[in-house]
Amino acid sequence: MPSNSPSAPAHRPLPKAELHLHIEGTLEPGLAFALAERNGVTLPYATEDDLRRAYSFSDLQSFLNLYYALMAVLRTEDDFADLADAYLARAKEQGVRHAEIFFDPQAHTARGVPIGTVVRGLSRALDAAEENHGITTRLIMCFLRDESADSALETFEAARPYLDRITAVGLDSAEVGHPPSKFREVYELARQAGLKCVAHAGEEGPAAYVWEALDLLGVDRIDHGVRCLEDERLVARLVADRVPLTVCPLSNVRLRVVDDLADHPLPAMLDAGLLVTVNSDDPAYFGGYADDNFTAVRDALGLDEETLRTLARNSFLASFLDEETRAAYLKELDTF
Ligand code: HPA
Ligand code: ZN
Repeated sequence: MPSNSPSAPAHRPLPKAELHLHIEGTLEPGLAFALAERNGVTLPYATEDDLRRAYSFSDLQSFLNLYYALMAVLRTEDDFADLADAYLARAKEQGVRHAEIFFDPQAHTARGVPIGTVVRGLSRALDAAEENHGITTRLIMCFLRDESADSALETFEAARPYLDRITAVGLDSAEVGHPPSKFREVYELARQAGLKCVAHAGEEGPAAYVWEALDLLGVDRIDHGVRCLEDERLVARLVADRVPLTVCPLSNVRLRVVDDLADHPLPAMLDAGLLVTVNSDDPAYFGGYADDNFTAVRDALGLDEETLRTLARNSFLASFLDEETRAAYLKELDTF
């Protein structure tokens, strides 16, 4: 299966963990067209360049519309395996040593693709990732927050046969109007099943949603969370409990969460003592993979080498790795 050749940074990238990455958001135009042809799906774009021209977003929803539409090309186990393998090849070039990967089962089951097809396909690539790319991986199953709480519960029950392959549950899609409180019950079930919990909160939604994710869902990490800075007490809580935040700078610019990368709150978050990590979110759409985000914040915000190393270190500290592997990666970073 042809895919775009991995783009390597000009420098040797720091070893890092990617903790906020939607596998469906790694679908590059080249692979989208190849899969469309393989599956007899017609895309509403004549060429890859036409498709690329649609990558101009005004907010989260305008991105999500294209993100869900393009998923029509993902139909078979092979498609999901090829998608994940193409991501892992790129991630390796970007210094990613460990990846915790989101997937959106409801975006596929709604189109008639069984959850087993999705999990088996992704697992095939992830199981081979250490051997093929030298990357350890985890899988995080996200619920679509603009779907009902019952739909999330049904999805969790459908996923039960595959829970041995899933490390955590997450919450994504359109945030405003869909607070974490809506999903208490399914998070409780996930925790009872021994899964970790994360949730997108405080991207477009208010700081109150971050409180709810912490207090009502009991999350281990907050995805995005940039709006926590609007609430001093919340920042104090996140610092005291060492709750990691998976920040996605290029995503925040493309989805207009911040006006300009030079105004990004990342330095303020670090200064506040938050356990911040830098991640790529949906790199095929937002113009950069993991190290591209590191380079972009270095250049736009003037971060020094020590700060970049802190961000890389935080990524391993915030991961769901076992302690032995975490220690090995931290040592690799220290001696890099
Ligand atoms: N936010 C919410 N949902 C998403 C995102 C995001 O940045 N990317 C894919 N689903
Ligand atoms: Zn995200």
